[in-house]
Amino acid sequence: MTIGIIVHSKTGHTLQVAEQLKASLSKAGRPVVLVRIEDKPDFDSFETLVLGSHTEGFALAAEMAAYLNALPSKALNQKKVALLITHAFPLHAMGGNQAMSGFKNLVEKQGAKVLNEEIIDWSRPGRDRQIEAAVGRMAGKL
Ligand SMILES: Cc1cc2nc3c(=O)[nH]c(=O)nc-3n(C[C@H](O)[C@H](O)[C@H](O)COP(=O)(O)O)c2cc1C
Repeated sequence: MTIGIIVHSKTGHTLQVAEQLKASLSKAGRPVVLVRIEDKPDFDSFETLVLGSHTEGFALAAEMAAYLNALPSKALNQKKVALLITHAFPLHAMGGNQAMSGFKNLVEKQGAKVLNEEIIDWSRPGRDRQIEAAVGRMAGKL
């Protein structure tokens, strides 16, 4: 079944990582689509999802939180979900962890089973390697 990668990305960082994940899954022969939350994707067509967002003010971006809160009750019931967060600072503790924790709470409240969580520290040296490793781990869990 097709994997749905659904992102909110203001400046393109989260989208870039999502595109790398999509390329990795496609290369492995997995059917995958990448859409933005603004495209109002139909969750029912996906059994497995990757949700990606950036961090704002040491929390999940308000747009992604609003999107998840507006879904019908238990919209993610029984769905397998992997979560991707990008943030600017070089350490997970400077916003990434807090955003991920809020993200996880919201999707679990909607009935999702979280398979994997990855945080990218955008200003950390070696970011490309960090992204590559995160993409590899995530692809392996989907
Ligand atoms: C209003 C605002 C608040 C932000 N707050 C944080 C923050 O608390 N911690 C952090 O590390 N990055 C923060 N960022 C940076 C973004 O999370 C980071 O650049 C992210 O990778 C952007 O992803 P995107 O290009 O997919 O939107 C903030 C950005 C904006 C615009």
